[in-house]
Amino acid sequence: MTRMRPIVYVLNGPNLNLLGSRQPEIYGRETLADVEAACRRIGADLGLEIEFRQTNAEFQLIDWIHESRKRAAGIVINPAALTHTSVAVLDALNACECPILEVHISNIHKREEFRHHSFVSQVATGVICGFGTQGYFLAIQHLARLLGSPRAETVQTQSAFLVGLIGAGIQASLTPAMHEREGAAQGLRYIYRLIDLQTLGLGVEALAGLITAAGQMGFTGLNITHPCKQAVIPLLDDLSDDARSLGAVNTVVFEDGKRVGHNTDWFGFAENFRRGLPDARRDHVVQLGAGGAGSAVAHAALTCGVKKLTIVDTVAERAEAVAAGRAARFGPDRVSVADPAEIAAALATADGLINTTPIGMAKYPGLPLSAALLRPELWVAEIIYFPIETDLLRAARALGCRTLDGGGMAVFQAAEAFRLFTGIEPDAQRMLQHFAALCAK
Ligand code: DQA
Repeated sequence: MTRMRPIVYVLNGPNLNLLGSRQPEIYGRETLADVEAACRRIGADLGLEIEFRQTNAEFQLIDWIHESRKRAAGIVINPAALTHTSVAVLDALNACECPILEVHISNIHKREEFRHHSFVSQVATGVICGFGTQGYFLAIQHLARLLGSPRAETVQTQSAFLVGLIGAGIQASLTPAMHEREGAAQGLRYIYRLIDLQTLGLGVEALAGLITAAGQMGFTGLNITHPCKQAVIPLLDDLSDDARSLGAVNTVVFEDGKRVGHNTDWFGFAENFRRGLPDARRDHVVQLGAGGAGSAVAHAALTCGVKKLTIVDTVAERAEAVAAGRAARFGPDRVSVADPAEIAAALATADGLINTTPIGMAKYPGLPLSAALLRPELWVAEIIYFPIETDLLRAARALGCRTLDGGGMAVFQAAEAFRLFTGIEPDAQRMLQHFAALCAK
C-alpha cells in the first residue's frame, strides 16, 4: 500500500499571475510558473504534495480555502491585495484547522500605509514577508517541520546554481568572483568553476567532451571564452539571434536537456556605453581592431545608434569580415573599412574612437595609435580593464576628451550571463562596486 503524502495548498490572490513582468523592482523577475515549479520540487523533496493555485477572484479563493478544509494538511497563502481588504478571506481561514502560513513577496511594512494591515495575520500560524519568492519555500519547509516530515531539516530551500567558464589561460579571470558574490548577495547557493584548458593540458578538441560532462553533472550553464567562442557553436542545439548573427557564443544555458548559446559580450559593451556616455554624439565612430571582441563591439556600437562605423585593423581581411557581418545585419551604409594609413582622415570627421585591440593591456603596453590624432571633442572608449586606465585613456583624459573604461563591459557581460543562468535580475550597481574593489586589490 502506498502512503498518502500530506497535501499543502499554496494559494495565490489577485495579480500574482503577472509575476515576472509586474513591478519587477518590487516582485522580481521570476514568474509564477517558476515559483510553482520550485514549490513542487521542494514539496517533493520534503514528502509533501503541493496543490498550487492562483486566482484574481475573491470568491474563488474562498472556495479553495473551503475545499482545503477537507484535503489540506497545511496552507501557504499569499492573498495579495485581498490581504488588506477581505474580511471574507479571514472568515474562511478562520474555519480551517490546519496550520496557515501567510506569505508576501515584498516587505509590506516598508510600503504604503494601506499595506501595513493584514486581515489574515490574526489567523495565521506565521507570517513571512520581504524574502522575495524564497518566502514560499521557507513556508513549505516550516509546514514540513510542523507536519513531522523527517526530511524537513535537511532539504535546502535556496535555489542552487552550478556554472563554470571554459577557456585557456583563465586563472586570473574576475568573472567567478563577480558571479559568486552576486549569487550570495541574492541568497542563492551559487558555485562558479574555472575549467582551464591550459591547466588541464587540453586543446579545443576537448570542448565537446567537457560540455557533455557539464550537462551530465547538472551544470546550470557555462561561460565560454578564448579560444572556444566559435568552436562551441556546432555543439549547441539552439542560438539566440545575436549569437547567430555574431557567430560567437560566450554563454551556454542548459535548458530542459538542450544547450542554448547566447552572446552577452556585445550587451556588456552596449550597456557600459549607454550608462557611461549616454549623450555622446555618434554620427561617425572609428573602431580600432577586428579581432576577438571586434564583432561584438561593432554590433553593440551599431545597436546603440552609431550611424556610421569605420573599422580599422592591421589585417585587412579581418576588418572586411567584421564589416561584412555587421553590414548584413545593420545595412551596408552603416559600416565601412579603412586602412591603418587612413586613420587620420577617418578620425578627422569622427565623434568617437573605440579601441578593441589588445594594445594598452598590461602585457602589451603602449598606444594603439598616435596620440597626436586625438582632439578634445573626440570621446574615447576602451574594452581593456587590466589596467583600468590604459595609456590611450590617460592621453585622451589629459586632452580633455570624455572617456569610458572597459570595466563596465566586463561587469555587464557577467551580469547578463547571471540573468540568463538564474532568471534573476542581478544588482548591476552592486556588481560594479564589487568589481572595482577586486580591481583595486
Ligand atoms: C503582496 C503584497 C500586497 O500588498 C500586494 O497587493 C500584492 C503582493 C506580496 O506578495 O508582496 O499583490 O502580497
